[in-house]
Amino acid sequence: MSRSILIAPSILSADYSRLGEEVEAIDAAGADWIHLDVMDGHFVPNISFGAPIIKALRDRTKKLFDCHLMIAPVDRYLDAFIDAGCDQITVHAEAGPHLDRSLQAIKSAGRMAGVSLNPSTHESAIEYVLDRVDTVLVMTVNPGFGGQAFIPATLDKIRRIRTMIGDRPIRIEVDGGVGVETAPLAAAAGADVFVAGAAVFKGGNLESYRQNIAAIRGAAERAIAA
Ligand code: DX5
Ligand code: ZN
Repeated sequence: MSRSILIAPSILSADYSRLGEEVEAIDAAGADWIHLDVMDGHFVPNISFGAPIIKALRDRTKKLFDCHLMIAPVDRYLDAFIDAGCDQITVHAEAGPHLDRSLQAIKSAGRMAGVSLNPSTHESAIEYVLDRVDTVLVMTVNPGFGGQAFIPATLDKIRRIRTMIGDRPIRIEVDGGVGVETAPLAAAAGADVFVAGAAVFKGGNLESYRQNIAAIRGAAERAIAA
């Protein structure tokens, strides 16, 4: 299997007092995508940041802004995240009854669309929207907080989703508890985008970020090497 591996550091673990510099640092350190975790204190039991913060960060990097919306309802806020400059917008299958409508709105704005599943949600929830998505984001922890432990039962779901996807050009992104120990397991199961917060930002400086990103990438690439 020859899939390119992408690393998407989550700024949820960055120093919020220096967010602009932190985005520049992970860009320089080799991040492929910048993962932006938006939490509303309702869909998930935590509040992070919203569209104005993302807009303020937009000119700090040319890298893809990968926006993970952990909010419900979601549809009324999509325009704000589109205007903020998000390149990909991911919504949760559990966030409301009109997943297909949300994905259509994202695609019709010319942005990449992602769909995410909580650990307890069956992959059949996305069976009928696969032709509308660029990325399936498999939560490998319960969303809401950084620094949690990877849930091994999600590996089987990743394998099943890889089979469901077939020949479609859809990426599988894993999010939560991803680091050098767990990235190889997810890569072997079929994941090709690796979100990491705690594992990238540990060390707190550019050189650490560079080493952390390279270590996760190397571990994932070795797992899928022939
Ligand atoms: C969890 C978020 C994740 C989180 C990952 O709700 O969606 O993106 O920041 O953090 P780590 O890598 O620390 O588990
Ligand atoms: Zn996330």
